[in-house]
Amino acid sequence: MISFQSKFPDTPTSIFTEMSQLAIQHKAINLGQGFADYPMDPLLIKGVTKAMEEGYNQYAPSSGYMILRERLSEKTLKEHGQFFDPETEITITPGATIALFTVIATFIRPGEEVLYFDPAYDSYRPSVTAVGGIPVSVPLNFPDFSLDMQRLQSKISSKTRMIILNTPHNPTGSTVTREQLLALYELIKDTDIILMCDEVYEHVIFDHQQHHSPLGQPLLRDRTVSVHSFGKMFNCTGWKTGYIIADKALTTEIRKVHQNNAFSTFSAVQIAIANYMEDPDTYERLSGFLQNKRNLLEDALKDSPLKPLPVKGSYFQLYSYAGFSHLPEKDFAVWLNKEAGVTSIPLSALTENFGDHQLIRFCFAKKDETLLKAGARLRELGRSIAPPPAH
Ligand SMILES: Cc1ncc(COP(=O)(O)O)c(C=O)c1O
Repeated sequence: MISFQSKFPDTPTSIFTEMSQLAIQHKAINLGQGFADYPMDPLLIKGVTKAMEEGYNQYAPSSGYMILRERLSEKTLKEHGQFFDPETEITITPGATIALFTVIATFIRPGEEVLYFDPAYDSYRPSVTAVGGIPVSVPLNFPDFSLDMQRLQSKISSKTRMIILNTPHNPTGSTVTREQLLALYELIKDTDIILMCDEVYEHVIFDHQQHHSPLGQPLLRDRTVSVHSFGKMFNCTGWKTGYIIADKALTTEIRKVHQNNAFSTFSAVQIAIANYMEDPDTYERLSGFLQNKRNLLEDALKDSPLKPLPVKGSYFQLYSYAGFSHLPEKDFAVWLNKEAGVTSIPLSALTENFGDHQLIRFCFAKKDETLLKAGARLRELGRSIAPPPAH
């Protein structure tokens, strides 16, 4: 037996794997993991088939096909009013998670600190640890999950190299405002801190709000790295394709890592997406589509003891069971899965220092009938299904 020391001794099995296994075991409706149970647009599938038939089956250029990068440059200019050069500032990656890792591996040296807001998407922390960096969590305000600038300031030190921002935010659905981005700039303007913004839900934003990206703030341009996912944009999470936008100096460094950990990504998918995106409605319609689903689930749960927290974007919503049970979040989610047959994710599994607030997360990117069926099951809570006492 060889001997080695785990770099991740405290990493448990992912909560998504755990809850999905429980969902199968109890034949529960899975509103836990973040992917759609309805089909993606067949037009895009046809586009990939066509691209493959046309011969796009070998390595794509390392930074991605120019036609796709040009499309993304035009889109960014239209949406945020800033030009990013497709030649030197846009890179196509195998999804957002690897893009986040690539950026962290590019800039973080052992002992340097990366601040991220808690609760958080679960890859940030282990990615920082993997390269010897020190993840430092900054709890969001409760209950609106907004940024706490004073708390953020108190965590910035001479070792801070990067701040990870996620808007719209998974798992809470909060978003950042332009004023908050400017306040963030004021905090870091005299430092060399890089701002990495995870914007995978940029097109899932509700109630006529606008998505505010640091890409749209000229003051932040030289320090912003923005990460995106076509999987979320076009409901093809299994295709694992995304992209990074960053100023030339940053992109030059990012590509040095990208060319060695991925080199390039699925060629036919890139061509198909570039053609598909020619019509902006393919992604602009997403907000309205998912807003209807958010509303449908909220309506279906009106007469249940689960109370929704406001959600501004993303396809997740937190529900409070505080008036119904005092069980800790994980115990409640496991109980709910078994007794009500609906799978959720306990918020506590996605936080480090945030505490237990009796909140579970549902993903509402599901067929209407799935949401209605889950709603019917959850309305039985408190009627025929009683919660166990907390220990
Ligand atoms: C906030 C956030 N960032 C990144 C990702 C990963 O995106 P991809 O599937 O493109 O790796 C997810 C997926 O759930 C996410 O919620």
